[in-house]
Formats: sequence, C-alpha cells, structure tokens
Amino acid sequence: MEREVILETQNATKHFGGLAAVEKVNMKIYKGEILGLIGPNGAGKTTFVNIITGMLPITAGKVYFKGQDITGWPAYKVGRLGIARTFQIVKPFRGMTVRENVAVGAMFGHGGHKRSPREALEHVDEIIEFVGMAHLRDKHADQLTLPYLKRLELAKALAMDPELLFLDEVMAGLNTKEIESAMELVRRINERGITILVIEHVMKAIVGVTQRVFVLNFGQELAQGTPHEVLNNPEVIQAYLGEKFVERFFRQQKAA
Ligand SMILES: Nc1ncnc2c1ncn2[C@@H]1O[C@H](COP(=O)(O)OP(=O)(O)OP(=O)(O)O)[C@@H](O)[C@H]1O
Ligand SMILES: [Mg+2]
Repeated sequence: MEREVILETQNATKHFGGLAAVEKVNMKIYKGEILGLIGPNGAGKTTFVNIITGMLPITAGKVYFKGQDITGWPAYKVGRLGIARTFQIVKPFRGMTVRENVAVGAMFGHGGHKRSPREALEHVDEIIEFVGMAHLRDKHADQLTLPYLKRLELAKALAMDPELLFLDEVMAGLNTKEIESAMELVRRINERGITILVIEHVMKAIVGVTQRVFVLNFGQELAQGTPHEVLNNPEVIQAYLGEKFVERFFRQQKAA
C-alpha cells in the first residue's frame, strides 16, 4: 500500500552567501510516522526546518504539504496550515506565565485564529497537563529549569494543533531520566495522530522513538533508512557517529 506523504521537499536548497547550508534535499515525510533527522553540527538540520516553516527564505527548490505547494510561505501561514516547530534555542516569553506562553501558540496555530483569548486559555490547560506541567501553570517562564523550558517549547507547539511537528533537539542538555520521559512524551504526541520529525544528537532517543532516519551531512542527504540501517552505515559512522561510539552503543543496547 502506498503510504500518504504529508510533507515533501524537492531539491530544497538554502545558501548563506557562499555557504550551501542545505543543498538539494529531497525528503518525504509520511503521515503518522516519526522520522529522525540526524547529522553532525552544522549539517543544516535546523536550517532545513527554517526554510520549510518560513522562518528563512528558501534559495531554491520546492516544499509541498499534503500536495499543496507552500514554498516560500510566511511562518504564520505555515502555522495555520498545521505545521508547528520547537526552537533549538528555547524562546519563551520570559515575563509571561506558562499558561500565557502556551496560549500564544493556541492563538496563532491551526484553527487558532478562530479562538478568542479566553478559549485559547481553556485549550492550553489540557496541553499543559499533557506535557506534565499543570503544577507550573502560573509560574513565569524565567523561573523554569531547562527540562521544563524544553517542555514549554513542546506545549507551545502543540497548542497550535499541528498535523506535522518539527522537534529541534528537545532532549539536548537533559539527563538520562529526563530523556526517558521526554521520549515517552514524544511517543504519546505521535499517538495523538501527529506526524513528527525529530532532530536529535541523542542516539538512544533516535533509536527509541523513530521508525525511519534521514541523515544530513554538509547540507546534503548522506543516507536514509531504518535506525538500525543508518547506525550501521559505514558512511554515517565515518561522517558522524564514530566507530567507538557505535561499538559502545550496541554493547549497551544488548546489555539493556
Ligand atoms: N542565519 C544564518 N546565517 C548564516 N549562516 C547560518 C545561519 N544559520 C545557520 N548558518 C550556517 O549554516 C550551517 C548549517 O547550520 P544549522 O544550524 O542548520 O546546522 P545544524 O545541523 O542544525 O547543527 P547543530 O547540530 O549544531 O544544531 C552552519 O554552517 C551554520 O553556521
Ligand atoms: Mg541545529
């Protein structure tokens, strides 16, 4: 059976002056899946998300969401269409409470323009609970620790009611236990019917939550396949993971 493609890029390209940050990337994201996007620092992962979500103008190539050409659409229009993203560098509104931060997402996302500020606040309470932050609802964002700032990013994105969600390193800086619970949350978001692209350097999380992995290197596709295929791909090991890491990783996986 042909799987439904929710997002497709054709030769997506982003140049910063002479630097090809993203070069002719052809990616398909299938409806309902969790796709991993990995690659070395500076490989172009965040830039790729930025040109899809209208945060940065695309240099060349095409972006289709559910068959519709959305190339070059501004961020607010992409958001209304049903695409949300988190930011690698957390960007809360610091003087606002958790509840108010999430409400902003609810007002600008998919169908959100139809919500009044009051309806938005009701909608967000459910999401705040879902991400495990009900006890922090009225705290200001600048009082939160990193794990909760990361969760707040997730909540803001979820409040937009996305069909497709880009997660940019929501596990970076978390300890093992915090990573486990973040992985569980990502799975539960997916179970709500949301398609997810997850960018992570934490390989345990990539292997634990994704069904498929796409590897970028110097802005270009290096490989794609199942997590297992990709982790055993000699080119991926050479460019990114390193042999020592892979040996240790599989030893630990076996032991666990
Ligand atoms: N706004 C910008 N202006 C100029 N160069 C940029 C800009 N954003 C990113 N770059 C450059 O583009 C390349 C890709 O960066 P990007 O942040 O997309 O990588 P990444 O794969 O997300 O890396 P990391 O794993 O460290 O987050 C890098 O060389 C980076 O310095
Ligand atoms: Mg990045």
